[in-house]
Amino acid sequence: MADYILAIDQGTTSTRAIIFDRSGARVATGQKEHEQILPQAGWVEHDATEIWSNTQEVIGLALSRAHLTRHDIAGIGITNQRETTVVWDRHTGVPVYNAIVWQDTRTQAIVDRLAADGGTDRFTPIVGLPLATYFSGTKITWILENVDGAREKADAGDLLFGTTDCWVLWNLTGGADGGVHVTDVTNASRTMFMDLKTLEWRDDILDVFGVPRSMMPEIRSSSEVYGTAESSSLLRETPIAGILGDQQAATFGQAAFAAGESKNTYGTGCFLIFNTGEEIVHSENGLLTTVGYKLGDAPAHYALEGSIAVTGSLIQWLRDQLGIIQTAPEVEELARQVEDNGGVYIVPAFSGLFAPYWRSDARGAIVGLTRFANKSHIARAALEAVAFQTRDVLDAVNADAGVDLSELKVDGGMVANDELMQFQADMLGVPVVRPVVAETTALGAAYAAGLAVGFWRDLDELSANWQEDRRWEPQMNAAERDRQLRLWRKAVTKSMDWVD
Ligand code: G3P
Repeated sequence: MADYILAIDQGTTSTRAIIFDRSGARVATGQKEHEQILPQAGWVEHDATEIWSNTQEVIGLALSRAHLTRHDIAGIGITNQRETTVVWDRHTGVPVYNAIVWQDTRTQAIVDRLAADGGTDRFTPIVGLPLATYFSGTKITWILENVDGAREKADAGDLLFGTTDCWVLWNLTGGADGGVHVTDVTNASRTMFMDLKTLEWRDDILDVFGVPRSMMPEIRSSSEVYGTAESSSLLRETPIAGILGDQQAATFGQAAFAAGESKNTYGTGCFLIFNTGEEIVHSENGLLTTVGYKLGDAPAHYALEGSIAVTGSLIQWLRDQLGIIQTAPEVEELARQVEDNGGVYIVPAFSGLFAPYWRSDARGAIVGLTRFANKSHIARAALEAVAFQTRDVLDAVNADAGVDLSELKVDGGMVANDELMQFQADMLGVPVVRPVVAETTALGAAYAAGLAVGFWRDLDELSANWQEDRRWEPQMNAAERDRQLRLWRKAVTKSMDWVD
C-alpha cells in the first residue's frame, strides 16, 4: 500500500510539490519560483507554460528527495493561486496569452462598463462576489477582446479557460491528448460565473461577459478522482483526487471543518476565511461569499472571506523595488532596530484596496513621514500594515457573524515572524495560534485527495492530526491599540480616491 500523498501547490510566486505521510507530516518538498511579468503599472502576468514545466520539475525534486517513486504515492491533490486566468488552445495546449494574475487591475474599464448597468453588486446575490478586477470573469473578457483572433477561436469552440488548478490538471492528465478539463467548486466560486446555490455555471452571466460556455471547465467537488496522471509522467496512473483553491485548502489543512471555525493565511496577500457551514451567508461588511469545500456528493460548505491583496508582496516590494533589504526575512531584523514605527504608516493599496473596502481607486500610500523616519521605520510600518489590514477584516467577520472570534488560527510564510505575530495579537485583542504543520495549504489539498482515495478515513482522523505549536496572547494596553488603529484608519483614507 502506498504510504504517501503528494500535493501540488501552484502559488502566486512559486510552485511546490510536497509529500505528506499519514500523520500529516511533511516528508519532502520541491519548489521553484516563476517569473513575475510586470509589463506596465497595474499589470501582473505569469507564463503558464513555465508554470507547467516547473510543476513537472518540482514533482521530480520532491520524489527524489524523499527517495520515493509513483508506487509510494496513493493520490495527488492540487491547490492553487485562485482567480489567475489561463486561456489556451484545446488542440495544441498553447496559451493564447500569458496568465493574467489575480492582482492585475487592467480590467477596471470592463468592470466599470458592466457595473454601469446595476452597480458592482449586480451579481453578488448569485455568485457572492462584487464586480472587481480581482476575479477571473473580466480577465477572460479582456483576453477575448484584446488578443488577436481569440474571439473567433473561442466562438468556434477552440479555446479553454481554467484557473491554474485546471491548467495543471489538464496537462497532468494528457493535455491536448485527452486532458481532463475540470475545476472544483472552490475555484469556480472565484470566477463570477458560478451560482452558489446550484454550483453550476450561469449562462446568463457568461453571456453578459461575452464568454462562451464551451470554454468553461466542468465543475466538480473538491474531493473525488478526476483522472490519473498520463503515461509519460513521473506519477503515471496515480489518481488526482483533490482540488481546492489555496485559501480554502489552508482552511481545510487547519482542520477548520465546522461552522464558526476560521483561519488567516499570510502569503503574498492575506486571506481570512470563516466557515459558515452549509449556509450561504451574504456579507453586509465587505466580505466575499465563497465555497469552502465540497467532499464528493456531500453538501457544500460555504465561507465568508476577507481578502487582502498585499501583505507578503509588500515585503518583496521592499526587497525588489526599494532595495532596502536583500532577502525577505531581513525585514524582521531591520524593523527590530527601532522601538516603534516613528509615526509612519504604509497602506499597500497596489491593486486598489480589497476587503473590507473594495476601493479600486485607491493606490499605495506612505504617510506620517518626518525627517526622522528611516528605512527601519519603513520596514516596521510594512509589517504593521499586515496586522492592521487583518484587524480591519476581522472586524468585518465579527460584524457579519454577530459574535466575536475568540482566537485566530494562522498559517503561511509570515507566521514564522514572532514580532509580527505578537503585534497581530496586540492589534486584534485576541490570541493568535500557530499549528505545528504551518504548510496548511498543501496539507489541505493532500487531505482532500487522501479522503477520496481512502488514505484517510474521515474528518475526525484529520482533526486529530492538528496540533498547536505556539500561541501569542495580546499584551498591548487598549488605549495604545486604539491610538494606533485610529492612525491606521486615517492613513487608509489618504490612499483612497487617488486614481484620476
Ligand atoms: O486569491 C488569491 C490567492 O489565492 C493567492 O494566494 O498564497 O498565492 O498569495 P497566494
